Amino acid sequence: MSVMWSGRFQKELDSKVNDFNSSLPFDCRMWEEDIAGSIAHAEMLSKQGIISSEDGDKIIAGLKQIKADIENGLLKFDMNAEDIHMFIEGELTARIGDAGKRLHTARSRNDQVALDIRLFLVKCADTLTELLNKLNNTLSIKASENTETVMPGYTHLQRAQPITMAHHLSAYIEMIKRDIERLAQCRERMNISPLGSCALAGTTYPIDREYVAKQLHMNGVTQNSLDGVSDRDFVIEFIGVMSIIMVHLSRFSEEIILWCSHEFKFVELDDAYATGSSIMPQKKNPDITELIRGKSGRVFGDLMTILTVMKGLPLAYNKDMQEDKEAVFDAYDTVKICLETIIPMIRTMKILPENCRKAAAKGFINATDCADFLTKKGVPFRTAYKITGEIVAFCIENDLTLETMSIEQYKNYSEYFDNRIFEAVNLENCVKSRNTTGGPSPEEVKRQLNK
Ligand code: ARG
Repeated sequence: MSVMWSGRFQKELDSKVNDFNSSLPFDCRMWEEDIAGSIAHAEMLSKQGIISSEDGDKIIAGLKQIKADIENGLLKFDMNAEDIHMFIEGELTARIGDAGKRLHTARSRNDQVALDIRLFLVKCADTLTELLNKLNNTLSIKASENTETVMPGYTHLQRAQPITMAHHLSAYIEMIKRDIERLAQCRERMNISPLGSCALAGTTYPIDREYVAKQLHMNGVTQNSLDGVSDRDFVIEFIGVMSIIMVHLSRFSEEIILWCSHEFKFVELDDAYATGSSIMPQKKNPDITELIRGKSGRVFGDLMTILTVMKGLPLAYNKDMQEDKEAVFDAYDTVKICLETIIPMIRTMKILPENCRKAAAKGFINATDCADFLTKKGVPFRTAYKITGEIVAFCIENDLTLETMSIEQYKNYSEYFDNRIFEAVNLENCVKSRNTTGGPSPEEVKRQLNK
């Protein structure tokens, strides 16, 4: 098949070069957006009298038929076509003749492809927003069931202060809330039509750019034709948002991996979400979470790809930009599958409150509360801190905890100790009294969850 630009050329493209040049194997994913954009463009051309309404009607009917035929499998993509735009236009012209050749009036593939990616990513953003909301619902249900599940909070992966499982899970809810916000802002900036920028310098035809944007439910039109065709900030930003989501999923995965180990045993994964070993019969491995942790590397790689592709390009369109698609599709696909997998994994994961409580009892995570007890009696905090440190050392030496020390032993360190110290170092009380905004007390976490 001779290509559309064959007028200027005396030879056919080398077949290896054709494969190298062709983006159809991956940009065919945007076929719906390409057709939607072309229908809106044809409506505009006809409304403005740039093409006749008969030609406009023929084009629109032809495009709708192509859409139906792709949907029901009657029309297959020709992998020899240069890209999805050439394929659809070529198919249209084959079907309706000369009218099809008028579709590309006042348009270039440069503004066409920029439009298609924007429309495609808007759809992706909507799908991911729904999944992120689902993830947060799942986390909130788990959290609501565990507002009284005391566990150690860690710094440096050392037991630090008592929190609850609900408080810990709620931290991820906050991260995912920010992801949803970021995605919404990115969507807002992305949903702007570049169509009418044409190749780079706009057009002499009396087009109506705002009309096209409105037909496509977009928020407005780009304001500089060079920028309209050379901008891929929205791709960078979208993969940036994907990357931050992956940071969050990866950190969560890392914690699940730790919590599944016998050293922690805070949770038990459902059998459907864990795998065995080919040699060690006792093993139950958290492969899914390890894969999510690993796949974060892919998405960060996609971000590096697009940043590097864009950084040295002179204005306006350059073919390098064709490399944006595989990166952004891969980032989207990866985040989507990770979310789809982690949601039911969390839903079916069993939390083991007794083990969480046991771990909390062992690490002197109520030492701050012991020091605070003295401070509230008037002892300067630094002095109280030092006394408590000595008490902890004594406990370690004598195999005691702050809960199992006797009052006489306490009194050896300060006359300010009385029996109420046992209430103060009771882990449930320690959690309950941390009731400042954002704190782990069951009341506060419930308040946050309701919000
Ligand atoms: N397949 C191209 C891409 O994905 C479409 C734009 C091509 N424009 C051009 N003048 N070669 O970027």
